[in-house]
Amino acid sequence: MLAIENLTKSYNRGALALKDISFCIEPHTFTAILGPSGAGKTTLLRCILQLVKLDGGRVWFQGQDLTNCSAKDLRNSRTQIATVAQQFNLVRRRSALENCLGGRLQELPLWRCFLGVFPISLLNEAMAALERVQLLDVAFQRADRLSGGQQQRVAIARALTQRARLILADEPIASLDPETAHIVLGLLRSLCTQEGLTIVCNLHQVELAKQYSDRILGIQAGELVLDMPTHQLSSSDINRIYRS
Ligand SMILES: Nc1ncnc2c1ncn2[C@@H]1O[C@H](COP(=O)(O)OP(=O)(O)OP(=O)(O)O)[C@@H](O)[C@H]1O
Ligand SMILES: [Mg+2]
Repeated sequence: MLAIENLTKSYNRGALALKDISFCIEPHTFTAILGPSGAGKTTLLRCILQLVKLDGGRVWFQGQDLTNCSAKDLRNSRTQIATVAQQFNLVRRRSALENCLGGRLQELPLWRCFLGVFPISLLNEAMAALERVQLLDVAFQRADRLSGGQQQRVAIARALTQRARLILADEPIASLDPETAHIVLGLLRSLCTQEGLTIVCNLHQVELAKQYSDRILGIQAGELVLDMPTHQLSSSDINRIYRS
């Protein structure tokens, strides 16, 4: 699904934020990325999406080299990658349903986007996605009137409407209470197990990473210091990620 090859990134020619990182992500898996604050987790997701310029290395997504492809191919690949961010990243004044439809705007003619006239099949798909995350009852409510947990679930429904194959989640539970955090991670886990999506999720909570992921990557000061199946993770491995 995803292959990262010797990825190196610095900001403003300063210290390296990511140093020679390589790993592969198998399809239909849930990978948790752990690491202290400032380790480079968000930068890694930005590099995968090509939102920042890499200093070196390659990012392969479903066989396509995103670091060396046309703008059109990059756009096409990005339609299959959805993001769920730490800060709820919905259009605040739009309804849950409209936010889901936003995941497919680029395939519609401009007039439909301007007038907000969507094909019935797409509306059905977006409603089904909201039903999947159990938010059908708030489909027509403005995003900024939803709770944090509901907003994250709308972001997941948007990813489903987008028909993404890969979800990159950057601390999706950072602003949520423990119970809601379980609901959101459980939902991501079930999309992986039941719908075959691939999840890569930055997390700060080791226990939750152990509970929900198949595999753990550990980043420390821009270096990949750990890459192993979750069930093999020991406390000394955790120490390796978080040692100062
Ligand atoms: N836009 C930027 N300009 C300059 N430096 C940046 C920028 N974004 C991140 N950095 C630096 O890159 C390094 C990695 O930051 P990054 O945000 O990727 O860490 P992180 O692991 O996501 O941290 P956190 O857990 O706090 O979210 C840090 O040293 C940070 O200061
Ligand atoms: Mg971050």
